[in-house]
Amino acid sequence: MWAWRLHASLPRTATSLEAADWLKVLRWEEVELPKLPEGWARVRLLAAALNRRDLWITLGLYPGIQYPAILGSDGCGEVVAIGSGVPSEWLGQRVLLNPSLNWGQDERVQGERYHILGMPSWGTLAEYVDVPAENLYPMPAYLSPVEAAAIPLAGLTAYRAVFVQGGLQPGEKVLIPGIGGGVAVWALQLAVAAGAEVWVASSRPEKIETAHRLGAKGGILYTEKNWAENLLQRAGSFDLIVDGVGGEVFSAYQLLLAPAGRVVIYGATRGNPPSFDLRRLFWRQNRIIGSTMGSPRNFSDLLHFLTQHQIRPLIEHTYPLTALPQALARLWRGDQMGKIILHPV
Ligand SMILES: NC(=O)c1ccc[n+]([C@@H]2O[C@H](COP(=O)([O-])OP(=O)(O)OC[C@H]3O[C@@H](n4cnc5c(N)ncnc54)[C@H](OP(=O)(O)O)[C@@H]3O)[C@@H](O)[C@H]2O)c1
Repeated sequence: MWAWRLHASLPRTATSLEAADWLKVLRWEEVELPKLPEGWARVRLLAAALNRRDLWITLGLYPGIQYPAILGSDGCGEVVAIGSGVPSEWLGQRVLLNPSLNWGQDERVQGERYHILGMPSWGTLAEYVDVPAENLYPMPAYLSPVEAAAIPLAGLTAYRAVFVQGGLQPGEKVLIPGIGGGVAVWALQLAVAAGAEVWVASSRPEKIETAHRLGAKGGILYTEKNWAENLLQRAGSFDLIVDGVGGEVFSAYQLLLAPAGRVVIYGATRGNPPSFDLRRLFWRQNRIIGSTMGSPRNFSDLLHFLTQHQIRPLIEHTYPLTALPQALARLWRGDQMGKIILHPV
């Protein structure tokens, strides 16, 4: 089979990157298919999607990188082969892959053997991928393969952050900063469907407009001075903030949180916050809660919720799989909103 293999990382100090730069470290090459282990299935991919994780790995900004690596955590396709012990009903089925591998028995936290599909294990930026059969889920019938591929990593992260860790209740007021992000858009769609009042923060006015079309009540540019004070004046304080941005944006949450309000943090694109007022945090009974990906139960609940509400993903752009360097360059520029999809030609 053919796959994109990563052989090294790009310099993390690079300030301007073009598609040609990724071709220095990524090669579209033929890879021998291994024998299928017991309990595993082979899937011919119909579509894959990118996540910021894929970008971090190409830039060497991820723990435990092993080369050569086939990246890609999101995929949907058709089961073409099964290892021993896998029910034969899976053969020929269209499936969506849960990228959480070996979550373990504890719903509260993943176990020590946990990892994410797409480095170190072989990922979906390829013609085929092998996964444990327990990570196969029937593809939601109301979606196309391109739409379904937009769900797994970002949808799962958003579901757990909003409902499991965030405990969102209908009617609550939610803030989602960095709304251009894949996880953030899913968080917006899930929270709106659950009956919350959702506000967003972004670096671009056009992303706020798109969020408005997806059901957000309002939004603010967090690039503006005093954005948190202005948002507080317009929207009042928030019961829940679901954040993947971090950095100095995070420091503003102490002002924006309602008494007993909570922040769920699933990412830190801008790094650690420069400051946080601990006295205000404990006095107002606020909570900061971490969240990562999700359990098999969370993935199944996500698919059920999406189907029940017939939610369709926001797709920014679709590329042929062979144009991966162009797709990564687009993700790196950060001007996208919604998922970037790759499909085999
Ligand atoms: N814990 C987990 O399981 C998990 C899962 C998925 C992702 N993550 C992490 O969560 C974060 C978001 O992931 P994603 O895949 O949703 O991201 P993404 O699709 O690449 O989007 C990131 C968004 O963050 C905003 N942003 C703010 N500051 C930025 C900066 N300095 N550079 C680039 N973007 C910036 C932008 O939105 P605006 O223009 O609207 O500001 C951008 O569209 C990443 O740090 C990722 O590693 C964690």
